[in-house]
Amino acid sequence: MKTLAVFPGSFDPFTLGHLDVLKRACRLFGEVRVCVLENADKRAVFTADERVQMIRHVIGDEGLVNACADSSAGLTAQYAKSIGATHLVRGLRNAADYAYETEMEAFNRLLAPEVQTVYLTCGAKYAHVSSGAVRELARYGADIGTLVPERINKIVSERLIKR
Ligand code: PNS
Repeated sequence: MKTLAVFPGSFDPFTLGHLDVLKRACRLFGEVRVCVLENADKRAVFTADERVQMIRHVIGDEGLVNACADSSAGLTAQYAKSIGATHLVRGLRNAADYAYETEMEAFNRLLAPEVQTVYLTCGAKYAHVSSGAVRELARYGADIGTLVPERINKIVSERLIKR
């Protein structure tokens, strides 16, 4: 069976934790499409197009031949259905993530019961990494080199540092 997974998220910005999940998803599924979506609870710093471009560059740098990146202004479940996805992939860092993710999964399953949600737990190395922490550290000029892919480091630091 040919599998097509969507890895949805706000990715503002895409972190090394996200990359860890993406790399593992690429080994599990035939094709993985990273999809930048809106999170109603967050105000994004980067536009959807900027985030897609950054992710595309990382995919190229990492040689992830079965991955690509896209964006959607709609619902994750609708997007997954529209491209005939078989799976949704989400990363899990801790118990708080689990509670949030299982609630979201219930809505996604209601809207697209044919799409299976799969959770990939992230390695301990990335358990503390979040896009929010990256943005906060970057604002104060702290080194975010161990938190985001190299290519994204400069872009985020330049955009966010307080002048
Ligand atoms: O990286 P995030 O912010 O945890 O990702 C959350 C995201 C963007 C996947 C979620 O907010 C989402 O699916 N947004 C699109 C709109 C949608 O489908 N909402 C229903 C979720 S209950």
